[in-house]
Amino acid sequence: MIPYRKKPVFLAPTECPQAGRERLVMQQPLANFTADGVHEPEAALLKRMNDTGAVFMMGQNANLPVMPERPRLLDFFHYRFCDIAFRHLLQSAKLALDAGQSETVIIACLLHDISNGALIRSDHGYWGAQMVAPYVSEEVAWAVQYHQALRYFADDSVGFKYPDAYNQFFGPDYEPPEYIQKAHQEARNHRWYMTSRLITIHDIYSFEGGKEIDPAIFTDIIGRHFREPEEGLGFDNSPVAHMWRTMIWPNNFL
Ligand SMILES: [Fe+2]
Ligand SMILES: [Fe+2]
Repeated sequence: MIPYRKKPVFLAPTECPQAGRERLVMQQPLANFTADGVHEPEAALLKRMNDTGAVFMMGQNANLPVMPERPRLLDFFHYRFCDIAFRHLLQSAKLALDAGQSETVIIACLLHDISNGALIRSDHGYWGAQMVAPYVSEEVAWAVQYHQALRYFADDSVGFKYPDAYNQFFGPDYEPPEYIQKAHQEARNHRWYMTSRLITIHDIYSFEGGKEIDPAIFTDIIGRHFREPEEGLGFDNSPVAHMWRTMIWPNNFL
């Protein structure tokens, strides 16, 4: 239990939409690929719907914390991120803060793995950059996108080595695909290279334990570098509002 996570509030099933019915949760198609091919859970769920009068879930899931009506960035940390993502982003940003990095680098560290927090892992740098682009400077979004590629390439001039964790995650022979190699080359020649490189330098893996960080210490930096929409993330009609809504209601059938 992380002491700084806000206490979640849940609705009783009777207070949720579609009350009084069994609500079926269909996994995202991306989660349905299994080692032996594509698993096809839809047919069984449709049969259950026909046989029992159950419905597919739409709206608030009783098993997930309620989000504020106008959610702000840190609400997603508190109520949607897994503990690992919560710790990882806060500890990375705190390292950058303690190292005296600029607020641009600190906010980039705080946001860099936001996609793996509660949306999607694959190509997380690209997804994360899109999620935050309307709310941060172009430089921050750029740095978030390119950190994904830069993690695979050492830079001796700043003491960055290929992460040991990657040898474990992917095996010692892993070679990143061509688009990642190209992204690395592009980034090397870009004026914002060091912003993205500094994300990788403060990017640490703390899966458990370590010093717990109170997200409130970043309130002022977020206020200066992340334009929180008045309507709340997910409801501002921005080109990425649907990504934030998907985290609020991840179990919607459609
Ligand atoms: Fe990352
Ligand atoms: Fe990271």
